[in-house]
Amino acid sequence: MKILGISGSPRKEGNTSILVKRALGICREKGAEIEFISLADKEILYCDNCNACVPKNNFLCPKNDDVPEILEKMKSADALIIGSPAYFSSVSGKLKSLFDRTLPLRRNNFQLSGKVGGAIAVGGSRNGGQEFVLRDIQNWMLLHEMIIVGDKKTAHFGGIAVGRKMGDVINDEEGMKTVENLAVMVFETTSRMRGNEE
Ligand SMILES: Cc1cc2nc3c(=O)[nH]c(=O)nc-3n(C[C@H](O)[C@H](O)[C@H](O)COP(=O)(O)O)c2cc1C
Repeated sequence: MKILGISGSPRKEGNTSILVKRALGICREKGAEIEFISLADKEILYCDNCNACVPKNNFLCPKNDDVPEILEKMKSADALIIGSPAYFSSVSGKLKSLFDRTLPLRRNNFQLSGKVGGAIAVGGSRNGGQEFVLRDIQNWMLLHEMIIVGDKKTAHFGGIAVGRKMGDVINDEEGMKTVENLAVMVFETTSRMRGNEE
């Protein structure tokens, strides 16, 4: 089982990275193969609706940046764990740009269909819009026909933490627990689905 974690923060070693890596750590302990991508050092140009990613062009996007490599990793994963900082109660612009660039995967026979998805959000304020951020990520997953899970036992919408400065989330015990519980749910759901396929 392959689980890909993506941090949508432009801060490489920031709170989102810490949280996504924690979730991946739990999945690895349970036996998953994991991979982590930080968008901080990736070039992601935004989709400008040029409409080149159509069947006659093999759904290829003409932009030359780091997105194709990320899309390949998404396609080969069984589950995705995606995290973002709250930026004005939405996902970061960088993550939104990546989401828009996944259009070819949807157009070309829903290549993320059936993959399990979990979402993580961190904000500097306790009520800084983290639930809206999760909803942004989950909406993207729904439009790709992915299967969304929340956090087991703490049983809400996914991983939610509070932290403003780099590393703050380490002290948010309750938030960290939701991230760990999200990872358990992602792992268990993916296992169950793979079992059913065999
Ligand atoms: C442009 C911008 C907008 C932000 N908007 C919010 C917000 O709406 N709600 C919130 O709680 N925190 C907000 N923050 C704070 C970040 O979410 C917070 O610092 C977070 O820990 C950053 O995560 P990172 O370390 O992974 O980059 C904002 C930060 C920036 C730079």
